[in-house]
Amino acid sequence: MTTTQTDWADLAAALADHLTSTGDLHDPAWAAAIAATPRHQLVPTAYRQQPDGTWAALDTAGADLNLAYSTTTLVTELDDTGQPVSSSTKPDLMVRMLELLDIHDGHRVLEIGTGTGYNAALLAHRLGDDHVHSVDLDPALVETARARLAALGRQPRLAARDGADGWPKHAPYDRIIATCSVPRIPWTWAEQTAPGALLLADLKIGSGAGNLVLLHRHPDRLEGRFTGRWAGFLPMRHDTTTQAPNPSARAEQVGEHTTTAPAEPWNTHRELWLLAALTLPSDLRRGYTLNPDTRTPDAATLTATDGSWCHITLGDAPRRVREGGPTPLWEHVETAWQVWNDNGRPGWERFGLTVTSDAHILWLDRPDNAFHTLSR
Ligand SMILES: C[S@@+](CC[C@H](N)C(=O)[O-])C[C@H]1O[C@@H](n2cnc3c(N)ncnc32)[C@H](O)[C@@H]1O
Repeated sequence: MTTTQTDWADLAAALADHLTSTGDLHDPAWAAAIAATPRHQLVPTAYRQQPDGTWAALDTAGADLNLAYSTTTLVTELDDTGQPVSSSTKPDLMVRMLELLDIHDGHRVLEIGTGTGYNAALLAHRLGDDHVHSVDLDPALVETARARLAALGRQPRLAARDGADGWPKHAPYDRIIATCSVPRIPWTWAEQTAPGALLLADLKIGSGAGNLVLLHRHPDRLEGRFTGRWAGFLPMRHDTTTQAPNPSARAEQVGEHTTTAPAEPWNTHRELWLLAALTLPSDLRRGYTLNPDTRTPDAATLTATDGSWCHITLGDAPRRVREGGPTPLWEHVETAWQVWNDNGRPGWERFGLTVTSDAHILWLDRPDNAFHTLSR
């Protein structure tokens, strides 16, 4: 099947209307950018995971064209182990982020994570090529995005660089948007922003705990709140190959008790999971065990590389917790559950962050109500 101009233009216009009707999109300038940008030309192929774990290629420029104009994240790049390393972010999230950034004519924007170039294309439509700067760690992705953007008549400034260092050559920026998650906000980003700038990034401190945070540039710090709606991005990678530590053998069971805390807070209570992750080991792995008869998850698991583990039955409280190893993992979740309840179960909008050149300070409601300082 060949894609005609009318096919994709109708679909892109329908996507803009859909995003407006769902309340994700308010600004006509972004609606115009969505309607004018052929996502299928920037994402002609995507991958979808099959029930057996393998990935099937989708023809998003042909038979699967509708997918390119749906609110779907499209995985576009897999590493040698079959893990996704690049994707085109779902358009509803992309426009929510662009609107949160309160972008105006004349703003100079730096994007960390060029990926397919789709977001860079939206930005270039809104601001003009010269105001858009985008970097990606992977030179091949950058070159592909550059060629596809050029075919659309777009030439934003692109570079293959580690985004942790920003792109000082074109600083200062009025807005920085990171489309990969970071364990800490690099202070170099603050140094490359203009006074009054806004930065939007996905802070994930470990084990997927965290959310998007919108930070305002002050003379001595970045400060702002987490966004009300949760989002998760692929983690930032670096050029060095770090060897994952070999996990110790799973230790013998040492205890069993019951819990009223949620069994899988990383999925169901993400604010609580942030609180728990602040003190849990950073090398933690999350998982599930399957009921051998039904092949559906019957328990959530946490494991650490020192051999510590815990196993929590899913379903209604009280849930059974079994634990082993030198680090009592579940008590961190219990403590966080208590703290979260004692504070009225705060949602993301009550959580805030102050970033200075040497600290990340998490606070509740107001910057002077700090509850944790993250080490750099
Ligand atoms: C979700 S994708 C970006 C989506 C992209 N904005 C788009 O519109 O298609 C995340 C991207 O971050 C990139 N990335 C990962 N680590 C990076 C780093 N250290 N510096 C710059 N980019 C990085 C990945 O290569 C990947 O392309």
